Amino acid sequence: MPSTTSLTPPTLTIGDITLRLPIIQGGMGVGISMAGLASAVAAAGGLGVIAAVQIGIIEADFHLNPLEATLRALRQQVQTAKDRSGGGPIGVNVMVALNNYDIIVKAAAEAGADIIISGAGLPLRLPGLVPEGTDPALVPIVSSGRAAGIVARRWVEHYDRAPDAVVVEGPLAGGHLGFKPEQIDDPRYALENLVPEVIEALRPFRTRRGTPIPVIAAGGVYTGADIYRFIKMGAAGVQMGTRFVATHECDASDRFKQAYLAATKDDVTIIQSPVGLPGRALKGRFIERSREGKKRPYTCTYHCLKACDYHKAPYCISMALINAQKGYLDAGFVFCGANVWRVDRLVSVQELMDELEAGYREAAARDQAA
Ligand SMILES: Cc1cc2nc3c(=O)[nH]c(=O)nc-3n(C[C@H](O)[C@H](O)[C@H](O)COP(=O)(O)O)c2cc1C
Repeated sequence: MPSTTSLTPPTLTIGDITLRLPIIQGGMGVGISMAGLASAVAAAGGLGVIAAVQIGIIEADFHLNPLEATLRALRQQVQTAKDRSGGGPIGVNVMVALNNYDIIVKAAAEAGADIIISGAGLPLRLPGLVPEGTDPALVPIVSSGRAAGIVARRWVEHYDRAPDAVVVEGPLAGGHLGFKPEQIDDPRYALENLVPEVIEALRPFRTRRGTPIPVIAAGGVYTGADIYRFIKMGAAGVQMGTRFVATHECDASDRFKQAYLAATKDDVTIIQSPVGLPGRALKGRFIERSREGKKRPYTCTYHCLKACDYHKAPYCISMALINAQKGYLDAGFVFCGANVWRVDRLVSVQELMDELEAGYREAAARDQAA
C-alpha cells in the first residue's frame, strides 16, 4: 500500500513503467483521446492513453476501409504521441466488446504501446493476444472484486501471469458502465466500496515482479483531494476521463468541450447503448429522438461491436459518437462522467495536473494536521 504520510503524491509503477504522478488519463474512444491529449498527459507525468475504438476517423478512407484505417491511424497516433511525450509512457485502450478486438490488441502492441488497458467486457484472453517480441504491461478494467478475481485467476492459470495493474471503474464514470441500470445509484456499488473489494480479491496474486497488483480507482475522481482519499484507501492511483476532456489538448472538437462547460446536473442521463451496457451521456435532441424510436440505422458500415445487431439497434453508436466528436451534436451524443456539471473552464493539461497535485498536497496536509 502506498504511504500517505508524505504530502507528495506517490509514484505509480505498472510493469516497467513508473509514473511521477499516480494519474492515468482514461482512454476515450472515437477520437476523444488520441495523440494530442495522451502525449500532453504523458509529458506532464501521468499515463497518456489513446483509445483505439474507431480512431480511423482521422483517415480519409475510414468509411470505405474502417478496420484498415483504424489500424493505420492507431500506429501513427501511438508513434506521434511517443515522439511528443518527451519519453513519457503511452497506453492504448481497447474495448473487449469490439469485433476486431484481437487484431487491434496485436496492432497496439506492435505499435509500441507501453500499456494496454482493456474493459467493456472481461479481457480473459488478453495475454494470449499480445504478439511475441512485444511486452506491454496489461491492465484489465473491472467493476467488481468478483470480476477482478476471475480475470486474475484465468490469466495465472492460462498464461502464468497476473495483471500488471487493475482499474476498477465505479458507476460515476463516463462512457459505458459495467453496471445494471438499477445498480448505478445504489450506494453498495459506490467506488469507495469497490476499491477495497478489488484490493481484497487481488490479495492472493502478485505481478510478474512479485509485487501486489496496483489497483487504480476510476469514475467520478475529480479533485486532488479525491486522489488522496482513494490512495489513503489503498488504491495505487486513479484513472480520470471527464476532467481531461475539458483541456485544450483533448482531441474532441471545441463544441464537444463547450457542451461539458454548459452542462448542468439535469443534463446528464443514462442511455442503453448498442454495446449492451448502459452509458452516461448528455441529453440532447439525438437521444430524445432515439427514445421516441425515430432514429434507426438502415445499414451497418463499421461492424464495430460484437453485441450490436443493427436491425434492432436504436441507432448506430459509431455514427453518433463520430458526429459528436466532430461537433455535430444534434446528430450524435456526448459521453461524460457524472461530475461533468462541475466543469467550468478549459485548461491546459499541465494546469490540470498542477491543480490535482496541489489539491493532493493540501488534502494530505489537512489530514495529517487533524
Ligand atoms: C467521452 C468518453 C469516452 C470514453 N471512452 C472510453 C473507451 O473508449 N474505453 C474505455 O474503456 N473507457 C472509456 N471511457 C471511460 C474513461 O476512460 C474513464 O475511465 C472514465 O471516464 C472515468 O470517469 P470520470 O469521467 O468520472 O473521470 C470514456 C469516457 C468518456 C467521458
